[in-house]
Amino acid sequence: MLDFSQFYELSVSERQARVGLSFSEGLDLETADQMVENLVTTLALPVGVACHFVVDNQPVWVPMAIEEPSVIAAASHMAKLAALRGGFQTQVDEPMMMGQIQLLDSPDWDRANQAIIEHEVELLEFANTYCPGLKARGGGCKNIRLKNLSPKMAVLEVRINCQDAMGANLINTIMEGLAPKIEALTGAIAGFKILSNLSDQRLARSRCEIPYAALAMDKIHDTGRRVAQRMLAGYEFACLDPYRACTHNKGIMNGVGAVTIATGNDWRAIEAGAHAYAAQKSGHYGPLTHYALDDEHDCLLASIELPLALGVVGGITQTHPTVRACLELLGEFGKSAQALAGLVASVGLAQNLGAMRALAAEGIQKGHMALHTRKQF
Ligand code: MEV
Repeated sequence: MLDFSQFYELSVSERQARVGLSFSEGLDLETADQMVENLVTTLALPVGVACHFVVDNQPVWVPMAIEEPSVIAAASHMAKLAALRGGFQTQVDEPMMMGQIQLLDSPDWDRANQAIIEHEVELLEFANTYCPGLKARGGGCKNIRLKNLSPKMAVLEVRINCQDAMGANLINTIMEGLAPKIEALTGAIAGFKILSNLSDQRLARSRCEIPYAALAMDKIHDTGRRVAQRMLAGYEFACLDPYRACTHNKGIMNGVGAVTIATGNDWRAIEAGAHAYAAQKSGHYGPLTHYALDDEHDCLLASIELPLALGVVGGITQTHPTVRACLELLGEFGKSAQALAGLVASVGLAQNLGAMRALAAEGIQKGHMALHTRKQF
């Protein structure tokens, strides 16, 4: 068991000792100079640890890199309430991503499509020569299909299992390697060759229950069920109005983004994928979470589903000292892309619960911000 008690009361060095890690000062200029062009300096962000998370029955310290006050406190607070009913349960898809080759001006799209179908096995074999390591670990290209977009344009979609990597560089290499073969086979001209960040076959889901009693602000005048009802109405507001849904999802991304950054992942890709999915899922932009009341068990049911193309290998996961430490802090959750995705979905859900509860109870400025001022979690 991890000791989450009174963590907020410790000094920074005592917190490091409690989690069993000493963090270095971060990225040195020499390493940073290898990463980007025209380097002049680096920019530090606070990294805090969210407490009380129990994900798939496993307690975990959650590193969060974020500049906004109250985010870590709110996530920890809701994780503590979720832990009253066993914490978060997750379900995560295989790490499937899509690579795209834009095809232009085929002399005959039907014949092009037929040629792709007939040669799929051979094309997959060829494509996998660009990622032998991934293939050896059970990943690699799994299927190919052609989708017509207009009389002049189609797209070749390749589904790739990226295992523990996010996969962007691998996919782009495969698409560029495969394109000449596709041109020869279809008579079309290959245009853009790139991954898609709408990774809707790499979804992560998490759910939890919050007992009504734990939501009560003032048990006599405002029962937990009434707070839960107002949270449900807030969720319905987000379902009906994209202006609210955007802010609702922004709160989710406070948590998702903070862990994404702490683990060295591409938060722009995660943001783009999440919002595209929020628009695609129900035909118009809506919330990434779902709420319902369960009067039989006296609790609020909360769940989330979003694409999470996260990696625990590649990129800066091995080179950035703080990222390495954060992945180590996560234990088993820092060793598998699927486990990390389940955890990040849970943090997004906790973050949304925190904002929803504050909005449904005493208001965000009074409630949420007070968590920060009192430094309580
Ligand atoms: C602030 O960073 C996030 C919130 O606006 C989210 C929400 O309104 O649900 C509090």
